[in-house]
Amino acid sequence: MGGHLRAVKISDSVYWVGAIDWGLREFHGYATSRGSTYNAYLVMSEKPTLIDTVKAPFKDEMMARIASVIPPEKIDTIVSNHAEMDHSGALPAVVAEVKPSRVLASPMGVKALTAHFAPDFEIMPVKSGESVDIGGMTLSFIETRMLHWPDSMFSFLEEEKVLFSQDAFGLHFATSKLFADENDMSVVFHESKKYYANIVMPYAKKVQALLADVAESGLAPDIIASDHGPIWRGEGIATPLKWYAEWASGKPSRKAVVIYDTMWGATAKMAVAVCDGLRDAGVEVAVLPLASFSRSDVATEILGAGAVLVGSPTINNQIFPSLADTLTYIKGLKPANLVGAAFGAYGWSGEAVKQLNGILTDMGVDLVSEGVRAFYTPTAEVLEQCRLLGAETAKRLTAN
Ligand code: FEO
Repeated sequence: MGGHLRAVKISDSVYWVGAIDWGLREFHGYATSRGSTYNAYLVMSEKPTLIDTVKAPFKDEMMARIASVIPPEKIDTIVSNHAEMDHSGALPAVVAEVKPSRVLASPMGVKALTAHFAPDFEIMPVKSGESVDIGGMTLSFIETRMLHWPDSMFSFLEEEKVLFSQDAFGLHFATSKLFADENDMSVVFHESKKYYANIVMPYAKKVQALLADVAESGLAPDIIASDHGPIWRGEGIATPLKWYAEWASGKPSRKAVVIYDTMWGATAKMAVAVCDGLRDAGVEVAVLPLASFSRSDVATEILGAGAVLVGSPTINNQIFPSLADTLTYIKGLKPANLVGAAFGAYGWSGEAVKQLNGILTDMGVDLVSEGVRAFYTPTAEVLEQCRLLGAETAKRLTAN
């Protein structure tokens, strides 16, 4: 069929009909430095079925790709695996244009989509373990509540063993190479880890339960088609499963993350000394000055680390705003099994270290000490205390 855009075949009956968002750099607080894709899939059974849609502004791109395979009004069934707007934003307009005979979602998906759109079409609930005939082929459903929204579910095309996993096993990575194995695997690893850290990390226990369920069910996909980034196929599908099992384990490593901001360089000097104390004790260290790193970079580095050390000057009796931002974000991601400490320079009352200790304790971080403060600028003695703070943290990592 004509048109300027094409679908891409990923199995005998399944086509990728999504959109590539090359310029995306911000996704609800997550710095998406390599853009993203919104993947939607067309199953060419006798009752053609669309799995998920795309972010609203990309609707025409998706429809053009569908039109390269069939006239879109031939779509019989639309499945919404995830109600978040990057996959459902185009849904009302697509339903109005296509007029499918049914729209399916999990029971929680029906609630979420109804609340978002007050739709003038019916959405039928499908539950875990249910399957539907889509015209000579079968789609079965697995609800994956809180991975990462209450409505999230997987759909599985039994005949071709394609697992449509919505956000799970996805990554924000705009690429023209549709399959993961065609891309630079170090980039795929980094962006997958970043995605897990920023989106999935709070739900580690759910990931472990899901991986166990999938193993027990004997579900053996040949393709894992997520809603973001490239598609996993063949032997490659073991890769994200192995990564998720490791990340969800919460097992800390001998790695420390040092996060800080600075007004006139004093807290920065302290960070360097803390880093050296850790490094000299054989600990891998990632130092993240917040003027140069985003909160989502911090989340990525913290995933799998064993320690977090946080430095802030005191400004008007408070911690630096960048620390408040980043720590609020990280707290919500619920990193596990961390030890840590605080440090910072001050000129008057110097509340920051005490406030940071409170925040770290609220996050469940096991404090190594009360921390180190520098009056205006760190003396050689204070810098030695910072180095020892690093060394003491390293010892706690060894003890773990
Ligand atoms: Fe890609 Fe949770 O949306």
